[in-house]
Amino acid sequence: MIVVEDSPVSVKYLKDIVNDFCQISKLSENFGGPHPLTAEQAAFIENWEVENYRKKVSLGGKNLGRLENKIVIVTGAAQGFGAGIADLLHAEGANIIVADLNEVKGMEFAHYLNSIKSKNKAYFISVNVAESASVKELVDKTVLQFGGLDVMISNAGILRAGSLDEMDQPTFELMTRINYTGYFLCAKYAQPVMKMQNKFKPGYFSDIIQINSKSGLKGSNKNFAYAGGKFGGIGLTQSFALELIPFNIKVNSICPGNFFDGPLWSDPENGLFVQYLNAGKVPGAKTISDVKAFYEAQVPAGRGCTAEDVAKAIFYVIDQQYETGQAVPVTGGQNMLR
Ligand SMILES: NC(=O)c1ccc[n+]([C@@H]2O[C@H](COP(=O)([O-])OP(=O)(O)OC[C@H]3O[C@@H](n4cnc5c(N)ncnc54)[C@H](O)[C@@H]3O)[C@@H](O)[C@H]2O)c1
Repeated sequence: MIVVEDSPVSVKYLKDIVNDFCQISKLSENFGGPHPLTAEQAAFIENWEVENYRKKVSLGGKNLGRLENKIVIVTGAAQGFGAGIADLLHAEGANIIVADLNEVKGMEFAHYLNSIKSKNKAYFISVNVAESASVKELVDKTVLQFGGLDVMISNAGILRAGSLDEMDQPTFELMTRINYTGYFLCAKYAQPVMKMQNKFKPGYFSDIIQINSKSGLKGSNKNFAYAGGKFGGIGLTQSFALELIPFNIKVNSICPGNFFDGPLWSDPENGLFVQYLNAGKVPGAKTISDVKAFYEAQVPAGRGCTAEDVAKAIFYVIDQQYETGQAVPVTGGQNMLR
């Protein structure tokens, strides 16, 4: 049996209805076969106020989220920015694929999203964004699970800082494969699905979004492997955007400032605050709070970036139909475009 509808929620309803029809037609054999409604009876039900109300409620009623029924992959969604973004998009009605290398944390997080009472669902898929076959499988499994793909968010990324004297080639190449090649692979395998959706529904728009960084807009001292990959990501975004706009696929990068409350900075064992405190990088700093205050003071807005700040930029690029190929800064005023 193949059922076709325009959202995962409606597909589930349609599947139930078709199954019920099959049962009715089989069981009613015992009573002389099915007796369908007459055309007038069917029209009465269709136009009945109660039925119209039921339909509205079953599709989410008045409280439709901004991403109702969208199918969204977030790579690196097991923790940090990715998990925060996935949570906020889920709260706006999106079905979420939590895609991550970390199976334990990823599954736990998808489980948490599914524990929230809502019609949209989350599903974990294990992926290594640096491997072509793995990213292809991620997109294939997403389509099998939810029936399509509306938004690909390439968020998985790593940071290993180091000067020219310290950085070795394997570390440089590992960072490039995850931060730069990983984005190429996400775009490569997402776009055929999006093109096909656009072919059958010409007014339909979809999005490829890269979570870049303020280090993709401005060089970063002793952190060139990261900044270089992120600068490159903006070149990919501009070029993909030109190639894909004929298919209404928008491609944009979001460039957040430092997420001080996330694990990268605040992890009590390996976070950058502990590392910088131990390395004496901040003159006069005696505690983690001193190091944090030093970095916060460098942001005109006086605080670090949050997943909510990033999600607002994501909602903007998804909502917009007349913008593509952009690098949207979300830095509390730390980076200003020329
Ligand atoms: N934390 C910040 O201050 C900050 C600032 C600006 C931009 N960013 C960007 O935001 C994104 C997320 O950063 P974060 O700080 O939340 O990181 P994080 O380290 O907290 O989380 C990254 C996630 O990506 C996953 N991951 C790593 N390698 C992977 C791979 N090869 N395949 C699949 N998943 C993989 C990890 O398991 C982890 O769950 C990155 O692209 C980063 O460059 C972070």
